[in-house]
Amino acid sequence: MTQRPSILVARAIFPEVVARLREHFDVETNDTDAPFTPAQLAERLQGKVGVLTTGSERVDAGLLAACPQLRVVANIAVGYNNFDVPAMTAAGVLATNTPDVLTETTADFGFALLMATARRVTESEHFLRAGLWTKWALDMFAGAEVHGSTLGILGMGRIGQGIARRGAHGFGMKVVYHNRSRLDAASEAACQARYVSKAELLQQADHLVLVLPYSAESHHAIGATELAQMKPTATLINIARGGIVDDAALAVALRERRIAAAGLDVFEGEPKVHPDLLTVPNVVLTPHIASATIATRKAMANLAADNVIAFLNQGQPLTPLNPEVLPKELRA
Ligand code: GLV
Repeated sequence: MTQRPSILVARAIFPEVVARLREHFDVETNDTDAPFTPAQLAERLQGKVGVLTTGSERVDAGLLAACPQLRVVANIAVGYNNFDVPAMTAAGVLATNTPDVLTETTADFGFALLMATARRVTESEHFLRAGLWTKWALDMFAGAEVHGSTLGILGMGRIGQGIARRGAHGFGMKVVYHNRSRLDAASEAACQARYVSKAELLQQADHLVLVLPYSAESHHAIGATELAQMKPTATLINIARGGIVDDAALAVALRERRIAAAGLDVFEGEPKVHPDLLTVPNVVLTPHIASATIATRKAMANLAADNVIAFLNQGQPLTPLNPEVLPKELRA
């Protein structure tokens, strides 16, 4: 009997997904779910040809050099800034992610965070829970209008377009967006979205939602200079990645009411959160849960598993990030 390939699942995932993987491979799991240090990850990967990762595991040239048997790394996330893709390609290691399966769920959450922020949902709940509600008042927790306002979107990929559709069709919002490349006319029409410069976006948005991937170019895309260009009544929503917003500058802008409020699902250096953000009232903070419904998280784990199964069994992954490592005839 030939030996089955060995793989690692770096974080705790759904047992049924592990069971599916075990039909094909010897699977080592991390049942404690404690994120591995880089050294622990390298050690666990010895002898493994595949691994399912999350955004907590960094895959770079150092790790790849220490794990020469590795052939595939499947991220359970659509974002993959934890991967050094050029280093993976140079090492001949396939990278995959989980696009599409989380688009609508993440767009739902973007809207939930926008609504909670603009309508001061968590701030008012804290007030109530603290026993401070003694009388109703006309201006109590009066927030910003959502319907009919201007929705700005920075980063107009699949999730950005999902948010645009919700805003335009559900809330009658005027949608403006900025992206590295402009959408084609049919996609713009489907979202009822108008392309503007980044400066126009900052100036026009009543609610600005960030949905762009993190890279060296998008690092601190929203800092003190950009915050100063926004309306003082505006809200800022980040469901993209920590590091796209300069969190220290944002805390100052919120404290000084240079913008009205922010809703943040992602943070620079998470799970640590900039201490100044914890002390300002006009910010809604959630722990990176934009794609977190049970159905979607299962779909993400299953897609990562399917990528590993399809690649190791047939050489053909479903959602490769660096198809150039595949033989020419298998590149989509
Ligand atoms: C979550 O942040 C993801 O990239 O899927």
